[in-house]
Amino acid sequence: MEEVVNSAPVELSYDATKEKGLRRVGIIYGDVGTTQFTFSVSGVVEQGDYVQVLHEKFGWVLGRVDEIKRKTNLSIERTKEILMGNDVEVKEMLSATVIVIGYRDSKGFLQYPRIPFRVGSVVYLAQDSFIKKVIGIEDIREKGAYIGRLFRHKNIPIYLDINAMVQKHVSILAKTGAGKSYLTGVLLEEFLKHGVTAIVIDPHGEYPSLKFPARKTKAHEEFKVRPRGYATKVKVFSPDAQLNKAKPLKFTLSTMAPRELLNLMNLDARQYLIPLRKAMDLLKMSRKYFTIRDIIRLLESEENNNLAPLIAQLEYLDEMGIFDKRGTRIDEIVERGKLSIINLRGIPPDIQELVVQRLSMALFELRKREKIPPLMLVIEEAHNYAPQQGVSSATKILRTIASEGRKFGLGLCIISQRPAKVDKNILSQCNTQIILKVTNPHDLKAIGNSVEGLTRGSLEEIQRLPIGVALVTGGNISMPLFVEIRPRETKHGGESVKVI
Ligand SMILES: Nc1ncnc2c1ncn2[C@@H]1O[C@H](COP(=O)(O)OP(=O)(O)OP(=O)(O)O)[C@@H](O)[C@H]1O
Ligand SMILES: [Mg+2]
Repeated sequence: MEEVVNSAPVELSYDATKEKGLRRVGIIYGDVGTTQFTFSVSGVVEQGDYVQVLHEKFGWVLGRVDEIKRKTNLSIERTKEILMGNDVEVKEMLSATVIVIGYRDSKGFLQYPRIPFRVGSVVYLAQDSFIKKVIGIEDIREKGAYIGRLFRHKNIPIYLDINAMVQKHVSILAKTGAGKSYLTGVLLEEFLKHGVTAIVIDPHGEYPSLKFPARKTKAHEEFKVRPRGYATKVKVFSPDAQLNKAKPLKFTLSTMAPRELLNLMNLDARQYLIPLRKAMDLLKMSRKYFTIRDIIRLLESEENNNLAPLIAQLEYLDEMGIFDKRGTRIDEIVERGKLSIINLRGIPPDIQELVVQRLSMALFELRKREKIPPLMLVIEEAHNYAPQQGVSSATKILRTIASEGRKFGLGLCIISQRPAKVDKNILSQCNTQIILKVTNPHDLKAIGNSVEGLTRGSLEEIQRLPIGVALVTGGNISMPLFVEIRPRETKHGGESVKVI
């Protein structure tokens, strides 16, 4: 074998006292690569912990424990002896695999050591200040959303750059019950605190609780969070204003194309488009605004039995109360520095799609003309409005916002429990990615394909994440980090319902 560079004798009896305050957790052994190495564990270290090792040429280098294995000399045959009650001497050792993260060079750039560590080097648990420096975690309190702290590091708060989120979009993905809506609530609180204008599409009516403070818990103290409500900064709109105790949300009927109306009614365009268009054109000639009742009256006056299904469907739409002579003005919905919740609880799916489509279109157009402030459009259950397969009337405009919104200061935040079922064009545009627990193999694959820098160990970890821990990457976070989400200031509206 060829002699390696820098082949000074390896200092195996490392003097740990030289590194004050550092906790030694093991010694590097076996084959050592530049991006990965293994060490025998002699201290307390867990999967996911950060470690640091002194490199003879590059100084201190940061790594992260990706996997830990227990190596033993107990063979399957010898387990029989244990079964028979005999004493069996077993040797075992823990071996940890570390993925090298790197070090900061004199210019502050993240670098990899281009020569492997020496075997026998001592591995230490990384210090908070070193982790922050190498990963590049900054306390950007002013322009950052405080979402929690680095998992198992209570002194490393994590802030997400709000500008990056609005300019380059966000995705929040996880299986049901993993904490997506809770975390979205945290983000919305931060938006409110920083004066960011936002609109949330809320299919389950979970977000009006942002008006009310949470009950104080020990976690609030730990995370330095104070319960509070945002009643003065939150407005709620709904097509069913009564059911959802909200301001009414209505659209102007005269701006709807007859074909769009037919799509909503699930009627055959070939049969009903012409009579519907005729009726609407006639009404438009005589007045600026008209109602569904006006259309029904006109169609009824034709006394044509073939039009009965059309009339019946129009009656249904009328009952939904989603259209009016004059719809809700967008500049009434969007207010600088405030959060508007579009509560769609109890609204049929086709009407929900219509709301998302109309609203997104209006926001995009008005933002282009700078008639409304820059804002974040948050969409819960996004697989319903922008499905990968099948159609939703809202998909097209959401794709446009995903690809062009950044030019106009219109950010998207996509939330879904089925990442594999959300339109890939839209998901791929989301730069800040937040992933909570995911177990479905299709969804894991979709995530593995779309998140850069995920190691095999991290993908395994995602399947076992406890509630409230998220993998975060993008924006100002340059590599995937596990973050323990902070408690809510406000009440969480999505509590699971107890059946018994
Ligand atoms: N960071 C957290 N800290 C404490 N509790 C949490 C946290 N995240 C979630 N929970 C709890 O877990 C439960 C489920 O969370 P949440 O409603 O956010 O799930 P979800 O991912 O939105 O689910 P679904 O897909 O069904 O909407 C809630 O009752 C909430 O109280
Ligand atoms: Mg939810």
